[in-house]
Amino acid sequence: MADRGHFNSRLGFILAAAGSAIGLGNIWKFPFEVGNGGGAAFVIMYLLFCFILCFPVMVAEIAIGRKTQRNPVGAFKALGFKNWAIIGYLGVLAGVVILSFYNVVAGWAFGYFLEMLSSNFGIGAQFSDFIKDVTKIGLYSICFMIATAFIVSNGVAGGIERAAKILMPTLLVLILALLLYALTLPNAIEGVKFYLIPDFSKITGNVVYSALGQAFFSLSLGMGALITYGSYVERNQNIVGSGAMITLADVGIAFLAGFMMFPFVFSQGLEPNGGAGLIFVTLPGVFESLGGTIGTVVGSVFFLLLSFAALTSTVSLLEVPTSFAVDEFGTERKKTVWVVALVVFLVGIPSMLSNGSVEWLSSFVTLPGHDSAISFMDLMEDLASDTFLPIGGFLISVFAAYVWRTENLNEELAASDASIKDSFLLKYINFALRFICPAILGVIALVTVLDRFFGVSLIG
Ligand code: PHE
Repeated sequence: MADRGHFNSRLGFILAAAGSAIGLGNIWKFPFEVGNGGGAAFVIMYLLFCFILCFPVMVAEIAIGRKTQRNPVGAFKALGFKNWAIIGYLGVLAGVVILSFYNVVAGWAFGYFLEMLSSNFGIGAQFSDFIKDVTKIGLYSICFMIATAFIVSNGVAGGIERAAKILMPTLLVLILALLLYALTLPNAIEGVKFYLIPDFSKITGNVVYSALGQAFFSLSLGMGALITYGSYVERNQNIVGSGAMITLADVGIAFLAGFMMFPFVFSQGLEPNGGAGLIFVTLPGVFESLGGTIGTVVGSVFFLLLSFAALTSTVSLLEVPTSFAVDEFGTERKKTVWVVALVVFLVGIPSMLSNGSVEWLSSFVTLPGHDSAISFMDLMEDLASDTFLPIGGFLISVFAAYVWRTENLNEELAASDASIKDSFLLKYINFALRFICPAILGVIALVTVLDRFFGVSLIG
C-alpha cells in the first residue's frame, strides 16, 4: 500500500489535533451556547463532560487509529470487527454534515475579516442582512472550501503543521489581550458573574444535552476525526499525554473565549442569549470603540485568526471522508479531495439559504423541547453535533472496553513506554471507558433517540 502520510513530530500531531479541536466551536459556538444555556451552570456541565467523559473517548479514538493506521471505517474492519464499522460510516456521514454548515459559518468569519479591513464596524448591526446575502456568502464559502481542499490535497505533514505553530499562539495572545480590555469596560463585572456564578436552577434537560453535544463538537470527537489523525501518528509517541494536552488546549481556549465575550456583551447592554449571531453582532461594536486604526487592525486580525482557527478544523473534517475513500476504494488522493469538497459544498447550500433568504428553510422544523421552529442549518447542527457525536462516543467507549477490550487498548497506549500502564491517567481511562462513558452516554443517547426520532419527550 502507498504511504498514507504521517505527522513529522509529536508536537506536529498535537498541534494538528488541537487545530482540529480549536475552531468556531470554541470561539463562536461556545459563548452562544453558554448564553442560551443560562451561563455558568452550562460552563460547569461542559467542563465536567470534557474531562470526565470526552478525554477517555479521545484517547480511545487515537489508539484505534494508530493501531490500525486506517480511516474510521477501515479501522474497525482491520481490528476484525466488521459490524462495528457502522461507527465509522456514521462518522463519515457526520463529518460531511458538519463540514457542510461549518463551512458556511467559516465564510461569515472570512467575510467579517474583509468588512473589518474596510473599517465597516456597522456590520454588527446588519448581521442578519449580511447572512442573507447569498451571493456574498456563497462566494466566501467557496473560497473557504477551496482553501481547505488545497491544504488537504497537499497531504498530512505539509504546511498545516507549520501554520498551526504560528497561528494558535497568536490566537491565544489576541484573546488574552481582548479579555483584559473587556474587563476594564463598564458593567463588565455583570458579564463575569453571568459566566462564573452558577444558577443551578437553569440546568434543564436541554442544557445538559447541549453541553454534552458542545463538549464532543469542540473536541472533534465521536466521528472518527481523531481515529483518522491517530492513524498518522507513529508508535513511539505517548498518546495518553498527547490526548491530555489536546483536551486542555481546547477547553482552555473555549473558557477564555467565553471570559472575553460576556463582559463585552454586558458592557454593550446586549442580551447574552443572542444565539448564533453573538460574536458577529457584539464584537464589531467593541472594535469600533477601540478607535480608528487600532479598531481596524485588531478587528481584522481577530477575524482573520478566527478564519484560520476554522481552517484547521475544516481541514480535519474534510480529511475524514477523504481518507475513507482513499483507503477503502483506492481512489487517487488529490482527485478525491476535490470531489468530496464539491459534494460537501453542495450539501451545504440549503444551510446557506436557511438564514433568512429562503423562508421555509429558515423556519424548517420545530423539535420537541423547543418553542419555535429552527432553521435547516440549526437542524443540521443539532443532529450532527448534539446527536451523532455523543452516540458515536457511546459506541466507541463500548467498543474499546468490551469488544476490542481494555488489554488490547492498554497494549497500544503503552506502546511507547511500558510504565504508562501503571499511570493514574490510564487507570482512569480504563475505568471511564468501562463504566462511566457507557452508562452516562448510553442514557443520554437513549433519551435523545426517543426524543428526536420518536417524539417521546423526556427532557424539557
Ligand atoms: N472541533 C471543531 C471546532 O470546535 C469542530 C469539529 C467537529 C472539527 C468535529 C472536526 C470534527 O470548531
